[in-house]
Amino acid sequence: MNEKEIIKNLEKYNQPRLINILNKVDEKTKKEILEEVSLINLKEIERLYANIKDTVEVDVGELKPVKSINPDKLSKEELDKYENIGIDILKNNKFAVIIMSGGEGTRLGYNGPKGTLKINVEPKPKYLFEIMADSMQRANKKYGITIPWYIMTSNKNNDKIVEFMEEHNYFGYPKDYVGFFKQGELPLITEDGQLVLDENYRIRKAADGNGSVFKSMRERGVLDEMKEKGIEWVYIGQIDNILLKMVDTLLLGVTIKEGSEIGTRSVFKDFPRERMGTLCLKNGNVKVIEYSEIPEDMIEAKNENGEMLFGESNITCNLFSLKAIDKISLKDLPYHKAHKKYSYMDENCKMVEPSDPNAYKFEYFIFDSFEYFNQISVVRGKREEDFAPIKNKEGVQSPETAVKLYNDYWRRHADERM
Ligand code: UD1
Repeated sequence: MNEKEIIKNLEKYNQPRLINILNKVDEKTKKEILEEVSLINLKEIERLYANIKDTVEVDVGELKPVKSINPDKLSKEELDKYENIGIDILKNNKFAVIIMSGGEGTRLGYNGPKGTLKINVEPKPKYLFEIMADSMQRANKKYGITIPWYIMTSNKNNDKIVEFMEEHNYFGYPKDYVGFFKQGELPLITEDGQLVLDENYRIRKAADGNGSVFKSMRERGVLDEMKEKGIEWVYIGQIDNILLKMVDTLLLGVTIKEGSEIGTRSVFKDFPRERMGTLCLKNGNVKVIEYSEIPEDMIEAKNENGEMLFGESNITCNLFSLKAIDKISLKDLPYHKAHKKYSYMDENCKMVEPSDPNAYKFEYFIFDSFEYFNQISVVRGKREEDFAPIKNKEGVQSPETAVKLYNDYWRRHADERM
């Protein structure tokens, strides 16, 4: 597209602020902006803008609680049967792990990718990536294998993460088995549908959510690489959870035995308003309703014994068959929007710091992929065994609470420590 065509396109898709700015900047800046604009799908921006006005309607009457397998209620024989199925997959090198690290971690207020945060665990402080590497190495040692480990990064944090891992020699993980891939980005849009420029005349974009993982795997060649390696099952977990057990042989065994393409670990909410996605059944299919979109009557719903009806929650511990990933990576997952404060450049090229939320960020959610499958296996986990998230600076789900859960866990499992 030449300059004229790009500007015409901006007119067509109603971007007067950007056109005004283009009329005021020098030729070099103009060229740079136009080059960036030419790479943006303005039609898609229009679709995003249309989505701003949509609200997510959830009809609680249609929803039912999910059925989960509670390992405490399984006999030793049943547990062994499932575990052996999982172990078989590992020993045949059909398993890989992805840790999603493309989030901004804004709530934590740490200046750097979350995985590079060092926390004060016993017996010595460790980085979050180090905790993940140790966990994988334990499994490698136990099963005599080396699991391919991928880290999903974002445009913003990729270089920092790669440098960090290099600098720390991958915490002893065999380097040839570690891969990085970047997730996608989407432009921010103001309340009046305008693209946003930052102080360097760059179009402001943000990572497009953890549901980007599937498309990014396809686009970055990770899917093909896994196919070549003979991988059949992929565990996708989040960097924030320092009790994350990627090598979850029970989840693998249950998912395979039940004939599902996806398996997920849940934990039961401590209290109804806990900020966690809620697992439920809609028309018989497993679905997650995010904490930011959950309706009031779902939070309050109780069963006949007066207990929380929708307590089973998503902890982002998901297992996918490679076939499932292949299928999802070709779908357009729905967008979810977040209304936030973003500084922007006005028509006179002056930066404006808004005092209230003024723009929308758009994200895909990983669990929206569940909707393409009729059956998903859910295994109930335990907070003290499976879930020690670091999300906030202080209070709940902070380094302090996570470290306590981690230390308590390792006091109980001292014999497994490396
Ligand atoms: C997430 C879940 C929520 C669940 C909670 C449990 C989603 C959308 N929500 O919420 O249902 O109860 O964890 O702890 O998954 N990430 C990326 N790229 C992005 C955005 C996020 O890789 O663009 C990664 C983060 O680095 C992190 C994970 O996804 O590893 C979770 O992201 P975050 O946005 O912190 O999700 P929560 O709001 O905590």
